[in-house]
Amino acid sequence: MIEQQITNNPTAQITQQAPTSHKKVLEFVEKFTSLCEPKAVYWCDGSDEEYKRICDLLVEKGTFTKLNPNKRPNSYLARSNPKDVARVEARTFICSKREVDAGPTNNWIDPEEMREKLMGLFKGCMHGRTLYVIPFSMGPLGSKLSQIGIELTDSPYVVANMRIMTRMGQKVWDVLGEDGFFIPCCHSVGSPLEEGAPDSSWPCNPENTYIVHFPETREIYSFGSGYGGNALLGKKCLALRIASKMACDEDWLAEHMMISGIESPDGKKTYIAGAFPSACGKTNLAMLIPPKEMTGWKVSTVGDDIAWIHKGEDGALYAINPESGFFGVAPGTSAKTNKNAMESCRANTIFTNVALTDDGDVWWEGMTDEKPAHLIDWRGNDWTPESPTPAAHPNARFTAPASQCPTIDDRWEDPNGVKIEAFLFGGRMSHNVPLVIQSFNWAHGVYLASVMGSEKTAAAEGTAGEIRRDPFAMLPFCGYNMGDYFSHWLNIGRELSQMPLIFRVNWFQKDEEGHFMWPGFGDNMRVLKWIVERVRHTANAVECPLGLMPEYEDLDWRGLDYPQEKFVELMTVDKAEGLREFESQRLFYRPFAEEQRLPKEFVHELALLELRLERSDEVWKPRKK
Ligand code: GTP
Ligand code: SPV
Ligand code: MN
Repeated sequence: MIEQQITNNPTAQITQQAPTSHKKVLEFVEKFTSLCEPKAVYWCDGSDEEYKRICDLLVEKGTFTKLNPNKRPNSYLARSNPKDVARVEARTFICSKREVDAGPTNNWIDPEEMREKLMGLFKGCMHGRTLYVIPFSMGPLGSKLSQIGIELTDSPYVVANMRIMTRMGQKVWDVLGEDGFFIPCCHSVGSPLEEGAPDSSWPCNPENTYIVHFPETREIYSFGSGYGGNALLGKKCLALRIASKMACDEDWLAEHMMISGIESPDGKKTYIAGAFPSACGKTNLAMLIPPKEMTGWKVSTVGDDIAWIHKGEDGALYAINPESGFFGVAPGTSAKTNKNAMESCRANTIFTNVALTDDGDVWWEGMTDEKPAHLIDWRGNDWTPESPTPAAHPNARFTAPASQCPTIDDRWEDPNGVKIEAFLFGGRMSHNVPLVIQSFNWAHGVYLASVMGSEKTAAAEGTAGEIRRDPFAMLPFCGYNMGDYFSHWLNIGRELSQMPLIFRVNWFQKDEEGHFMWPGFGDNMRVLKWIVERVRHTANAVECPLGLMPEYEDLDWRGLDYPQEKFVELMTVDKAEGLREFESQRLFYRPFAEEQRLPKEFVHELALLELRLERSDEVWKPRKK
């Protein structure tokens, strides 16, 4: 048993048990062991047998409830502390040397000051706990596009999740060798356990949470939270915040994007990548099942959250999914909305903050039309359909192996990635953002992505529903100055000889009664088909003040009775509203301009937009044939 490996001399354990002789790794582990003072150190090997032991330990500690193996084989439910349920953006810091390099959209603290603060926080923070050493690869093991991280954590829950979300364990030491590069990731739940004191089933320290990045030295420190992106440091911290900075330095892209392949009836496949803010439909889009009437069209899944994108020798862009699992939003996921996600979590899955059924399975809002008569809710209390609070937390998640997705693409682990031919950018906007717009060109597309707005969701702490600008869906994830990030995108475009097309999409427009006007989910295939046909130069588009658009006839309506009037409503551009938005975009750009970090291209794009709007009809509609 892992817990039996306790000795009174964890430092000795490091050298005795280390499965690597990599000097920097040993120094890193030693330094943190003496700082955090755990009772033991455990080097994870990533084996099935180890996963089982960790899960048993979590059951013993009360963190995990084993689900009914007949319903949900090899699966567990975890309930977090109610104060530790989502990413904490207000406590997330980018500690570059200069404040201007973190930029106006990030929280910045002087790195020296922050290091001192962290040393204080981590001092003795693992008393009574085991320090786990997790070697992991983001991206297929050994791919030249992959990166290695080493997470030190006192949370066995993190170990179990990292096993699903990353390629973790012994093989990583082989790839790393004696002196390979790795990103150090230090995590503690921040809740030392003194001798004899009772432990909590979800230890954390919500009053003192810090999610800290040193982009220049490529280091990550996370303290106080055990949840999701706060604690699984390979995901947002490494694969987005640190990787975005590395990508800027090394001429590639690290993006908050799903990746999927779209196959037409003639067997030709086009890969797309789509950036949508948290809980805005990446997983759904990545696993989309086309309406059956659209015979021969198929979607395959490469990734649902993160894309690392490199230039190929042919001047095109190639993307890999650095993750090996899905950490997907549970509420709203059902056999109707996302059958592939339901299949992906049918077994070997960790559920966090969903409800427990009386027969030992899981349930969440939206999973079935009928609510179960009795449940144990995510807080561990009895729940009935009359209960005033939801049974599952709105940011409840499933952690499932990507390999279990029925539509997983046969090239999802291709070390060279898949060629991206279109980028989609989509926020959650109830009004005034059409169903789909194609950008006129690369610079216009980068501009469109930079001003993307979206209503906030439960994926981050704060008020859900509030509209905010979320450029490229990267607002919480860009590890450097967002103005420089815009320029980086423009620069990448200059170097390409095969440019992906860029589209802004919005599945979320609502009518006056607050109902979604677009059916969404599988029906998004109608828009994807038009996008793919634009890539292949076989579809028509018309120009509107905001960009290029399909007309009613350009979408495939087989199997859906969707009146042309409703489509026209989804595509209408209101001049007065457009001009208001134009003014608001200017204000949004101001802080970047003040720091001399606003690309001059955007000034031109705004001027052109204003011109197009001024010359437009009061209400622009796609022409009715
Ligand atoms: P993160 O994992 O947080 O980065 O988010 P994600 O973008 O992968 O989110 P996900 O796909 O899990 O989004 C879940 C939410 O979006 C659920 O509430 C879904 O019901 C909703 N959703 C997804 N696609 C659509 C759509 O086409 N239309 C509508 N109306 N809702 C959608
Ligand atoms: C997101 O919030 O965008 C997520 C979930 O993908 S988490 O990993 O918790 O950040
Ligand atoms: Mn995400």
